[in-house]
Amino acid sequence: MSDTGKSPGFSRRSFIKTVGVSATVSTLSTMAEATMARAERDEATKAQGPGPVKVSMIVNGKPADFVLEPSTTLAEALRFHLGLTGTKVICDRGSCGGCSVLVDGKLLNACMTLALDASGSTVTTVEGLAQSGKLDPVQESFLRHDALQCGYCTPGFIVATRALLNDVPKPTLAQIKRALGGNICRCGTYTNIFNAALEASGQPVIMDQKGA
Ligand code: FES
Ligand code: FES
Repeated sequence: MSDTGKSPGFSRRSFIKTVGVSATVSTLSTMAEATMARAERDEATKAQGPGPVKVSMIVNGKPADFVLEPSTTLAEALRFHLGLTGTKVICDRGSCGGCSVLVDGKLLNACMTLALDASGSTVTTVEGLAQSGKLDPVQESFLRHDALQCGYCTPGFIVATRALLNDVPKPTLAQIKRALGGNICRCGTYTNIFNAALEASGQPVIMDQKGA
């Protein structure tokens, strides 16, 4: 303590000043961090459009690059830009499953998915299920069981069945019905569709199942 009763080199004023400086430094660094975080967030969520935007994805094992209006749905991109018309647009509002595709292995309605949101993803349409000219077992089974009438809903049912069997190789009839619940067949070929799904999974068909 000095004669003046003040601590040499350190006073309340200097203490306040020091606090002020360190508070200022800390405020500046917080602001810098916030600015950086904001810049990163803006980059990640950068608004695209309203003009055409570049969209790239892998479709049926091949790279596909588009320049699209941001409002273009995945169904439109597949059908109109790649000519993959197996993806049917029937209700265009997510209630019939006609446009079912696999996006990164997950079953999605392509009419309700923006192509932009599928950018960077791997997309499989009904055309991509056959390998080296050989139909997928689900496709074979739908043919064998005549699981169609007009055929308009069929690609969606086939893709949805494939998605189910990828997750559950031997589903019960109840699981099949639940998994295909988002697909509508206006021709009412449900029994044959369920039989096709059962047979594709190596199980007895409905007529062999008691109480089915
Ligand atoms: S056309 Fe997409 S769900 Fe009906
Ligand atoms: S076969 Fe016609 S809608 Fe299903």
